Amino acid sequence: MVRKTLIITGVPGTGKSSIAKLAAKQAGLPLIDLNALVKERGLYSEIDEADEARVVVLSKLESEANKELKKCKAGAVVEGHLACEISLKPASAVIVCRTNPKTLRERLVRRGYLPDKMKANEISEMLDYCTIKAVQKYGAKKVFEIDTTKASLEQNAKECLEILKGGKAAKKYLPRINWADVLFEQEVKFR
Ligand SMILES: Nc1ncnc2c1ncn2[C@@H]1O[C@H](COP(=O)(O)OP(=O)(O)OP(=O)(O)O)[C@@H](O)[C@H]1O
Ligand SMILES: [Mg+2]
Repeated sequence: MVRKTLIITGVPGTGKSSIAKLAAKQAGLPLIDLNALVKERGLYSEIDEADEARVVVLSKLESEANKELKKCKAGAVVEGHLACEISLKPASAVIVCRTNPKTLRERLVRRGYLPDKMKANEISEMLDYCTIKAVQKYGAKKVFEIDTTKASLEQNAKECLEILKGGKAAKKYLPRINWADVLFEQEVKFR
């Protein structure tokens, strides 16, 4: 049996959970939700008073998530923004969900994020934070990007399955997103 493990990461609000749920269902693979694992197993050192966010102990999350992965003999879909901060094995492909920072801000405002937290996430997205981290942790050959700004959930899930399949079709999702250029074109009108 070929073991297929898809890791889905990205800044909060880029659509990981929604996409991973659908992609896992379509691929017939179990879903491992890293945020749920943190809560269920108490993999945090404290809870931030300002926004009730858990301060995760990454070494514990890595070890618990890898234990779960080991049980999934046919593979799994793993999702969470912290997937780019830890090493999960085996990983067939790591997909970074990307969203135009302007759209990301609208999504995070709707969620009621505090201004500082919203800005931190927006800047992380502008600076390709999760892609850079994923490349450091998993190697450039395994990292792909999908754009969730305008695509439907179904389209993004389909892209995940194409990437999981590998080969030529997956190559068009190699990291290529550059929000600096996109935002510059939107903001600056040359005469
Ligand atoms: N193409 C798309 N794919 C996924 N989500 C989308 C898409 N377009 C819009 N959204 C919206 O983006 C929002 C964020 O989705 P979701 O909760 O899945 O993000 P997340 O990355 O899992 O965030 P978090 O890291 O906080 O868990 C949802 O309101 C979802 O409906
Ligand atoms: Mg989520």
